[in-house]
Amino acid sequence: MNHKPKEDTIGSWSVQKLKLLEKYLAAYVKVLARQDWCRGYEYIDAFAGTGKPKTKDEEKYVDGSPRIALDLGMPFTKYHFVEQSDWRVKELEKLKLEFEDRNIEIYPGDCNEVLREKILPGLPYGSNKRAIAFLDPFGMELQWKTMKDIANVETVEIILNFPTMAINREILRRNPEKIPESKKQKMSQFWGTENWTVDLYDEEQTLFGPELVRKKQTGKEFGLVFKNRLSQIFKHCTSPVLMTNSNSAPLYCIMFAGHNATGAKIADQILKKYEKTGT
Ligand SMILES: C[S@@+](CC[C@H](N)C(=O)[O-])C[C@H]1O[C@@H](n2cnc3c(N)ncnc32)[C@H](O)[C@@H]1O
Repeated sequence: MNHKPKEDTIGSWSVQKLKLLEKYLAAYVKVLARQDWCRGYEYIDAFAGTGKPKTKDEEKYVDGSPRIALDLGMPFTKYHFVEQSDWRVKELEKLKLEFEDRNIEIYPGDCNEVLREKILPGLPYGSNKRAIAFLDPFGMELQWKTMKDIANVETVEIILNFPTMAINREILRRNPEKIPESKKQKMSQFWGTENWTVDLYDEEQTLFGPELVRKKQTGKEFGLVFKNRLSQIFKHCTSPVLMTNSNSAPLYCIMFAGHNATGAKIADQILKKYEKTGT
């Protein structure tokens, strides 16, 4: 039988997201390459994908985040690609042949474990290395304790794709106590507390007594609530930029967090320009 090869398809909003990533990575490498004290500036792609998704509209292959990082005019000193699915890992392996002069390490598995056990221990503050991590999950796969570990090493900045739509799909508009236990647990691991209903719900009086009801938040306001959580562990966080689909439904928010003021300033400029001009 003739099986169609597996591939990932992405919408135009993802292409925009990748353009923002490219702009920040180009600026990051340029600044770090000038620092004499710096012993390495590394790229971490915690949800790497295949490296070559296809666009839904134009049906053409585009560079995914790993390729964008590899193709920059100035290279990173090391590339860490983490991916959980086997067939995508096989695709990623091909990048090693194509970019044989680059220092690429591919980690099959769950990024929460890989970051904690394999990548972050190589980036302690005293190493004089720095890294930028692109965190681009489908949904709530990234655990808050991983986020805290990233913040604690103080050498790693993040560009986060906050999965607005995926969370909205998983949690109920009313009565969060009726959400299945497994989903509640996933949300608690993602949000970093079992009390996430405090951030997301208000109490409303009904004929049958008080009920918890989702706060009226726009997609951006929802992103801001998570930004406030990130501000508790990172010194600098940008405001989230909301990405919507062709029906203007909120999909996700892109935001930056890190400990370096210059990084935050550059990210802020890139994101604000995008909000103003769409480029
Ligand atoms: C939105 S896609 C990433 C797209 C990629 N950044 C790009 O630009 O092409 C999310 C990817 O994360 C992978 N993934 C999901 N959960 C994961 C986990 N816990 N650890 C590592 N990878 C995971 C999925 O298999 C998928 O390839």
